Amino acid sequence: MPRRTRLESGLQNALSILADQFAFPTDRMRTMMAAFHEDMDRGLAGLPSSLRMLPTFADNPSGREKGDVLALDLGGSNVRLLLARLTGDGREPQVLSEKFKLEPEHVSTTGEALFGAIARFIKEFLAGRRLDGSYPLGFTFSFPLRQHSIRRGELILWTKGWTASGVEGRDVVSLLDRALEGQGVGGVRVVSLDNDTTGTQVARAYFDPACDTGCILGTGTNICYRERAARIQAPIAGYTREFMIVNMESGNFNRALPRNRYDARLDARSENPAGQWEEKMVSGKYLGELVRLAVADWTGRGLLFEGRLPGPLAGRDGLAGETISAIIADPSEDADGARAVLAGLGADGAGRDDAAAVRAIGRTVVLRAARIAAAALAAAVTKNDPGLQAAHTVAVDGSIFEKMPGFRESMRAAFGELFGARAERITLALTHDGSGLGAAIIAASTGAHSEAYYGEQ
Ligand code: BGC
Repeated sequence: MPRRTRLESGLQNALSILADQFAFPTDRMRTMMAAFHEDMDRGLAGLPSSLRMLPTFADNPSGREKGDVLALDLGGSNVRLLLARLTGDGREPQVLSEKFKLEPEHVSTTGEALFGAIARFIKEFLAGRRLDGSYPLGFTFSFPLRQHSIRRGELILWTKGWTASGVEGRDVVSLLDRALEGQGVGGVRVVSLDNDTTGTQVARAYFDPACDTGCILGTGTNICYRERAARIQAPIAGYTREFMIVNMESGNFNRALPRNRYDARLDARSENPAGQWEEKMVSGKYLGELVRLAVADWTGRGLLFEGRLPGPLAGRDGLAGETISAIIADPSEDADGARAVLAGLGADGAGRDDAAAVRAIGRTVVLRAARIAAAALAAAVTKNDPGLQAAHTVAVDGSIFEKMPGFRESMRAAFGELFGARAERITLALTHDGSGLGAAIIAASTGAHSEAYYGEQ
């Protein structure tokens, strides 16, 4: 066989093996859902479980929450600060917001550096708007939190590659309070703490009573949902409402997943080996790396790039989620768009076959991610409504859901396979930047609001 043809058939063969390695057919999705339900029950009962099922001390809002409230949204490389005016009468909240950029050293050195930077941002935000009164603040902290009340909770452990020391096991509100004191910011009182899933759910539920689930599909992934408080075994003394939102930390789910050797390799080299398995198959921090590991493997076998991995693809995280987005979005037959993206990265030696193969790998990895995300959400929604008798709105936010080509469509297709016509009862509602607004609504629901200055911007 001439070399070219041999290579082509080798590539075809490798692609069909890859499709098997990343397959997640409907019956396996159902098996995963059953395991997910078991882990939800175990977690609620306080038994060992990969789902942490963390009490949030918050429930869906009534829609009547009002006041001028600050919110701090921390969880990605951007910190968002908001001042929200809630009128409590069904009108859209007015929101002033600003993004601040955390430097890599803030998330990887010490808690002091991290919270110090955040306190400086808050100071700057207030000064920029001449806000010098006294303000309640709702704090969205997008990591696993062991909460003891609406305004106390320790970071259980970092996820998404964050490593700042001296934060795990500590109450993050105290750390923030101390940093604010250090910056001489006297007028801000942290009155509530929540996870980004919870904030997103609450922001949507403020207008939509059918919203009973929140989901993030971004750098990380997670799901929260509304549960009867009586079913939660963790200590929630003093909480009097019938329902509570439970933060599942579903990114840590680790059973009946379609794992393969690339997943194992990625996990072993991550900052948190053996943790967050579902997140590592689904979310934006990891999708590019999964693709890169497969590309590196194929290259090592002489199937791509004439056997030499281009420099920019050689190191960990050499392919970002956004790059995968751009590559798989290329509809052209000859993969010229994908090739241009690779060239833009500095991988100029990529031929058409290379680019087409990288795009095919990307599509395969992303399709599996969407199906796993769909199975996890399907499990969450059917936990207390197995026959999908009611309509459920899932408030979803995050770059993968919002921007990854084909992701939503693949999720919907998976729901269709699982539930047939009843899949229509699940609405996936993009709730862009909901976690900040949700934090403000939760803060207002504590009753601790004041009339803040609300300047025109
Ligand atoms: C965190 C969750 C968070 C999710 C989405 C995960 O890594 O553990 O708390 O909700 O990312 O930001």
